[in-house]
Amino acid sequence: RPAGPCAMVMFGVTGDLARKKLLPALYDLANRGRLPESFSLIGFGRREWSDEQFAQEVRSHVQERARTGFNERVWQKLAEGLRFVEATGFEDDSAYERLGQLLVELQDERGTGGNHAFYLSIPPNSFEAVCQKLSSHGLARRSRNPEDPWSRVIIEKPFGHDEASAHELNQAVERVFHSDCVFRIDHYLGKETVQNLLALRFANRLFEPLWNNQHIDHVQITMAEDIGIEGRASYYDGVGAARDVIQNHLLQLLALTAMEEPISFDADHLRREKEKVLEAVQVPEDLAAASARGQYASGVQNGQDVVGFLEEEGFDPHSTTETYAAFKLDIRTRRWAGVPFYLRSGKRLGKRVTEIVVMFKRAPNLLFTEADEDQFGQNALIIRIQPNEGATLRLASKVPGTGMQIRDVDMDFSYGRAFTEESPEAYERLILDVLLGEPPLFPRHREVELSWQILDPFIKRWESLSEQPEPYSPGSWGPDSAQQLLARDGRAWRIP
Ligand code: BG6
Repeated sequence: RPAGPCAMVMFGVTGDLARKKLLPALYDLANRGRLPESFSLIGFGRREWSDEQFAQEVRSHVQERARTGFNERVWQKLAEGLRFVEATGFEDDSAYERLGQLLVELQDERGTGGNHAFYLSIPPNSFEAVCQKLSSHGLARRSRNPEDPWSRVIIEKPFGHDEASAHELNQAVERVFHSDCVFRIDHYLGKETVQNLLALRFANRLFEPLWNNQHIDHVQITMAEDIGIEGRASYYDGVGAARDVIQNHLLQLLALTAMEEPISFDADHLRREKEKVLEAVQVPEDLAAASARGQYASGVQNGQDVVGFLEEEGFDPHSTTETYAAFKLDIRTRRWAGVPFYLRSGKRLGKRVTEIVVMFKRAPNLLFTEADEDQFGQNALIIRIQPNEGATLRLASKVPGTGMQIRDVDMDFSYGRAFTEESPEAYERLILDVLLGEPPLFPRHREVELSWQILDPFIKRWESLSEQPEPYSPGSWGPDSAQQLLARDGRAWRIP
């Protein structure tokens, strides 16, 4: 359903994320008829732009990246609602004054109903200042009365750099906006395949009886990228893989894989079940044995010379920031005790792939003595988050012939073949949910703080070591220590 009357104010509208994802997603929503007639987008930033110049700017990003194809008529309608407020910085009071006046004018002129979404696509150290200014200029309402116009705030990760800073940040934002009106974006939750995890688990009868430590040997969650840092030094240095993607995307995947069935998909029920899992994650005593980290070295990837992380432009050549991280975590519940969850993510790995591998135990009695036991018979469900979205069930099967040879075969479901419907981009789905006031896909502050609680001890230990992470070759599957992490348990990472 389309969103009701409203306006969005975007801070950080000239940034990378806005140009590459947010502006094209807004256009795609308009093109799919999901934005209201009254929709207005106000850019707030340091450029000396007129409304027309801002519109030109937005147009160029939309033309370059929109997924639904550029349609002049749709664009013109959207462009009528574009405005720009020039500011000298996030503390510029006169700019907030002008913003306030503009929002009132737009209410009359375009019928926005006084409903406002504030998108903070800016570094987290500015969240507090912007929220306070919005509050002191009377732009952020705390009312929860459904009859009143709404004010919502959208924030982008990183939500802090550890549990304490996340807590402070959450408090600062929630002093100004009611907690129901704070939308924390984790774009993985906007992905179709991530939402399908819930359908796979809870709309089928097949998996639930097996989804426990009686039948599952272990779970692997991989998010691999083949790209390097891509000019994001100012963001990435001092952050690293664990904070960048494991604290949020991968722990959310873990929570969705391991949680109990919620009593409904209402935000409160869903978040409660995810939080229970995160709370049950046990941080191991031996942190060194349960983790690995690495940094990509220079080398050749896909036939091209690539520089190592320490030679990337803008980095401290002695940086100890990791570009690869892996963890082994246990979940202390009746369902999961004894089933390790292995998580890994890295840049400049063999290929871009995100997947969840649920490895089942072997059959208790193997009749097929001719075959090598290690080569078959370990069923696996591989949920392919991206690319080539879908799922594979690995089964042992008889090789045609007179003997009784067994080999693993794949049963495959692929989105591309099964559905004609196109999946919306994650940001489209999430932005629309904010405008509709639908919170289930947004983690609340407790989830964020619990995720930091899991990673903080590992990261603190790494930081106390002040030694370089282990180098790994571009195009490989990470440092040796990551292979050892599973080898010590008699297991191996799946090569996607
Ligand atoms: C972001 C990280 O959250 O996710 C980036 O900050 C990473 O470092 C990106 O490249 C990957 O997203 P996706 O959707 O391409 O898997």
